[in-house]
Parts: sequence; structure tokens; C-alpha cells
Amino acid sequence: MALPPQSTSSETITIGLLGAGNVGAQVAKTLVEERELISARVGTPVRLLGVAVRDPEAPRDWRIPGELLTTDAEALVDRSDLVIELIGGMEPASALIERALRRGAAVVTGNKALLASRGAALNAIAAETGALLRFEASVGGAIPILRPIEESLSGDRITKVMGIVNGTTNYVLDQMDTTGAAFDDALEEAQKLGYAEADPTADVAGLDAAAKAAILGTLAFHAPFSFDDVYCEGITEVTRDDIEAAAASGYVVKLLAIAEKHTRNQAPGVVLRVHPTLLPRTHPLASVRGAFNAVFVVAENAGELMFYGQGAGGRPTSSAIMGDVVAVARRLRTPVPEAPTISREVHLPPLPLDKATTQYYIDMEVADREGVIAEIARVLADHHVSIESMRQPGSVTVEGEVEDSDNGAKVQVVTHLATEKDLRETVEELRGLDVVKTVNSVLRVEVEK
Ligand code: HSE
Repeated sequence: MALPPQSTSSETITIGLLGAGNVGAQVAKTLVEERELISARVGTPVRLLGVAVRDPEAPRDWRIPGELLTTDAEALVDRSDLVIELIGGMEPASALIERALRRGAAVVTGNKALLASRGAALNAIAAETGALLRFEASVGGAIPILRPIEESLSGDRITKVMGIVNGTTNYVLDQMDTTGAAFDDALEEAQKLGYAEADPTADVAGLDAAAKAAILGTLAFHAPFSFDDVYCEGITEVTRDDIEAAAASGYVVKLLAIAEKHTRNQAPGVVLRVHPTLLPRTHPLASVRGAFNAVFVVAENAGELMFYGQGAGGRPTSSAIMGDVVAVARRLRTPVPEAPTISREVHLPPLPLDKATTQYYIDMEVADREGVIAEIARVLADHHVSIESMRQPGSVTVEGEVEDSDNGAKVQVVTHLATEKDLRETVEELRGLDVVKTVNSVLRVEVEK
């Protein structure tokens, strides 16, 4: 399919859009219908040169004028001053972005999976050719979070970033918590609402959040982290019982992406982790409902900050894309030397999960007899794990056992800060105790900053 002739004015910034899914169609609509406004914001005319798609006939949220559609993505890239990549996934997105950067074209993308695995390489190409690469939409949809971290907080030291960055899992956990919905029903609903990835395994297994954790960590700590540096646990093991027990103790279960600097008693580094987490209902992140996202940032001087908004969906995500388009187009109009996106503070390596310290919630079924609590407390003390609270929510009858002597009791322990290693050894020993019938769940708790 032929492309329309290139821009008539040498002043005009030409834009090539790759992909026309939910977000792409909305971006195309804005670039066509709001062209004057966007041009005024940039200070130079901008023009959507073409939209590269696999199937020009596919139905779309907005009917893209036929003369803009092309199947030749490479030709479009080669004719554009600014390329917006919204194809997603690894290939051909990666090769097309690289092609654009190598010829010095600016690139705006929301491709979190690609950035989490090839972000450092793409940034290096951009640095080499002087091309601009922006990806605000890759984390938190509409929420302006990357630019505040990169620019507004660049004179401070961030110590921790903790976010609800996957709308699908937040929706599922929220539905389970507030309506008692079953996991599968809530997930199906999230898919219908258009929040989930094409393969929702990426959402529920935590992979989408892990990619976002790598991007957040990279910008917050000025070190190039990748997807492989993130410990990742999804929500598939979270049960209704966990959620109910958490609620009874004043907690809510959230899937958090955490990047935290550790400096005490060890070589400094950053632990990146994604896992279901208990949050006190009073924590600002606990109020994030439905498919909304929020990122909580702690910096030495700024203190605590929270950024909240819609983390998915065509229109919200297109807002972040268009913000990057305007910012980048302004820079194309008046070039200034680009500061490094990743300044090389490589003295902050990724640390293994064992180095993380957090609080833990342990839910056990134990024998209901004297000395049990003392025995459990001894095991925790032996591993230097201190108890913050212990709860015995009432005796339960073990299925199939009716005699008093065989009845069990539930015990729920919340620990003070402990290392992952101490906790793991503690749980192993608890599982081996005669008095512990089962350890139902072990969940991390975030209370302190
Ligand atoms: N599947 C993602 C989510 C889409 O549920 O948040 C936004 O990245």
C-alpha cells in the first residue's frame, strides 16, 4: 500500500504510527482531529504521515482514514521524524524501534515488555545517534510517573518505589475482596473490560508488573535493571481464605511491584520484587480500587508521594503517549543536548530476594493444646524473627475429624521486619513441627516505608 507524499513543509514534524489497537486508534484520532491543538502545543506543525497495521481492513475503535493506512512499517519508519510504536511485544516492535533510533528519529513507545528486556540496549543506540526515546505510557497508563521520577525527583535520592501497576490483578483482587467474586469470574470480567493482556497469564503471573518494576527501578535508581533482575510471584495462589483472613486483621491483599534500595549491613543494591502483599487498610495504596493503578514513591527529601490514575485502556494510555509526543516534538524543534536517561550509578546492583527485609504474615493450622504457641514463638525467635502480633481467630474443625482432641486451631502471625532468608528457614522449621498441621499461607506485609 502506497504512502501519501511526505510533508510539504520542511518545518513540519512527520509522525509515523506503528499499530492501531485500542491505544493506537485513539492516538491516530487525536493526531488527526486535534492536529491544530497539538501543533500549537509543539510550536511547529505536526502531521500524521501514516499508520502501519497488519490488516488494513480490521475493525478499529476509530475509523482511520484509508489513505493513512499502510502495511509497510519499515518505509513509514524511514520517512518519519517521530515514530510511535504501539505494536507491543518483542518483534517486529524491537527491530522497528532500533531502525528508527539508528536513523536519528525520535521514538515514543508504551512497550513495557520490550523496555524491560532491551531498554538498556535501545537507550545505548539512542545515546549513540542522539535520538530521543520516551516511554511514559509503559508504566501506569495515564499516570505521569516516569517523568516525575526522571526529572522532578532528579535532585533527590529515591529510596523506595512501590506500586499497583497492573490493573487486571488489582481488579481481580478487589472484586474478590469486596464482592466475594471467584478468581476466574473476576478475571473474565477484567478481560471483558479490556484491561488484561492478550494472554492474561502475563497479568496474573505478575510478569506485566515485573516488567514495570524493572522500568521503575531503572529510572528511580539510575541503574539499568532488566526483567531478569525482578523476583516475581503472581496472584494465582491467593485464595478467598487469604483475603478474608487479611480483611479480618485489617489488611487488604494487593499485587505490588517494589524496587527498594538496601544499604544497611550490606553492600548497597536494589531488590526488585513483585508479589501479593498485605497492606494495612489505612495505607494510601490500599484505597486503590478496581483497575486503577498507583505508584508510591519515597525519597530522602521529598518524603512520601503517591501518583494515582487509570493504568490501562485506550484513552488513558493515549494521554501518556501524546504527552511524550508533544515533549519529544518540542525537542525536535529546538534541539538541546539529551541528558542520559540512565545515569550510570552502577554501584547499585540488583540484589537477590534474600536481601529483602519485609514483614510477613503466616497463617497456620495447629493442634489445639497447651504449649503450641510457645513452640511456634521459639522457632521464630531461633531465626531472629520477631513477632508483631499473633491472632487465634477461633478453633476450626479439621475436616473429617470430630473428636475434641483432633480439633485444630488457626494461628496467624505478623512478624516485625525480617529477612527473606530468615523467614524461609522459619517457615521450613514450622512446617516440620508436630503441632503445626499446615502452613496455609505466607504473605509479605508492607507497613513501613
Ligand atoms: N494488562 C495491563 C494491566 C495493561 O492490566 O494493567 C496495562 O499495561
